[in-house]
Amino acid sequence: MAQYDVIIIGSGPGGYVCAIRCAQLGLKTACVEGRETLGGTCLNVGCIPSKALLHATHMLHEAEENFAEMGLKGKSPSVDWKQMLTYKDNVIGQNTQGIEFLFKKNKIDWLKGWGSIPEAGKVKVGEEVHEAKNIVIATGSDVASLPGVEIDEKVVVSSTGALALGKVPKKMVVIGAGVIGLELGSVYKRLGAEVTVVEYLDAITPGQDGEVQKVFQRLLKKQGLDFILGAAVQGVEATKTKAKVTYKLKKDDSEHSLDADTVLVATGRKPYTDGLGLDALGVAVSPRGQVKTDGHYATNIKGIYAIGDAIDGPMLAHKAEDEGMALAEILAGQAGHVNYGVIPGVIYTHPEVASVGKTEEQLKDEGRAYKVGKFNFMGNGRAKANFAADGFVKILADQATDRILGAHIIGPMAGDLIHEICVAMEFGAAAEDLARTCHAHPTYSEAVREAALACGDGPIHS
Ligand code: NAI
Repeated sequence: MAQYDVIIIGSGPGGYVCAIRCAQLGLKTACVEGRETLGGTCLNVGCIPSKALLHATHMLHEAEENFAEMGLKGKSPSVDWKQMLTYKDNVIGQNTQGIEFLFKKNKIDWLKGWGSIPEAGKVKVGEEVHEAKNIVIATGSDVASLPGVEIDEKVVVSSTGALALGKVPKKMVVIGAGVIGLELGSVYKRLGAEVTVVEYLDAITPGQDGEVQKVFQRLLKKQGLDFILGAAVQGVEATKTKAKVTYKLKKDDSEHSLDADTVLVATGRKPYTDGLGLDALGVAVSPRGQVKTDGHYATNIKGIYAIGDAIDGPMLAHKAEDEGMALAEILAGQAGHVNYGVIPGVIYTHPEVASVGKTEEQLKDEGRAYKVGKFNFMGNGRAKANFAADGFVKILADQATDRILGAHIIGPMAGDLIHEICVAMEFGAAAEDLARTCHAHPTYSEAVREAALACGDGPIHS
């Protein structure tokens, strides 16, 4: 029986990053994973494959919409769906093998199989029991089911099935206008499907800054996505090839239905801790199924910790990674820490949407005096040259101190642009600090600087 300092259960972004950092800090580390490849949901059936399909279909969109204007003539490419899926699978393969290589490099043992915790200090994988001073639950999340909707991963699919459909559907109904629904909805729209998104709330992307929500919905509509808001899905009836989605409009309780070849259920995810034996161990879990932890990721049972989607907080790969690193440092006797006030969120549609910190709605609720610096990409030369001038950068800063409180970007490369604001926020910067920083011309980043200038004496290009 092997003895470890740490055994991590789950090799998603939380688990594998925690394992690598533990090993780097000199702890004898193993990671349990039952899938055939490392990387968890994110690398195998989530973040990475969806980005491959988003990239491929964006290229198609560029060819169809913008090539001719740039003097690039010729027939637009046609879609070879099988090849697109092969490309996506190759991208997955490169990434999951990359983690395997990193495990070997860092001398981390991959314990293959599904793990459980028979008692504190022990992890069972298959018939073998391994001993560990510390056990980390990094088992992630699974699709949350919707009453009246049975996911068969063929006609009625979760994001997993949507990444491997047999063919591009003619009609797709997406339930839920959150991140998954809009990312994958836009993939299939660009591939030629008719896409209708049915959302319970009266706005898309709950929690997002209100102004971003409105502009985002308008831009997606322009791309051809249909939205039915304020509609509660009641159920889905499916045959082998078709489905009917029924929903009730909240405003008048009237019932309606939509036919589809494929229904994507994207109504959220729930922590996945099945089979770990947490009940028998007495590990405290919230009513929503999240493992309860203290500020140091410790559960109520000594030596058992939890991170990522399995605990409280946004279900984001990078939040899990940061928790993984922080916990590794704590286990190695250092002072690991995550700043939950500065965790960016990104939606990888075109245009991208990115945010960090407070929204205007939150600041109003808190009764805080703030100022808004906004700059439209229309005033950014690079964006105009690249057919990417839709959207804006908005920086929210404290009225009195000018300290940056939040930022919201809808536009080209928003998911990358947001990070200079994250760094600024980590350092407690004022908008003026960003505004006084030289930004190369011509770059999209200049729009960030202009928004920072707009918090003070005003931007130059609007
Ligand atoms: P979500 O929580 O982002 O959105 C779910 C949406 O479904 C909400 O707008 C909700 O109001 C709606 N909804 C719920 N029940 C409904 C009903 N009966 N009828 C109509 N609408 C209903 O969940 P999503 O998109 O499934 O994503 C799951 C998790 O994965 C999220 O936490 C998300 O942040 C994460 N994720 C993050 C990505 C990224 O960072 N780019 C990409 C994909 C997922």
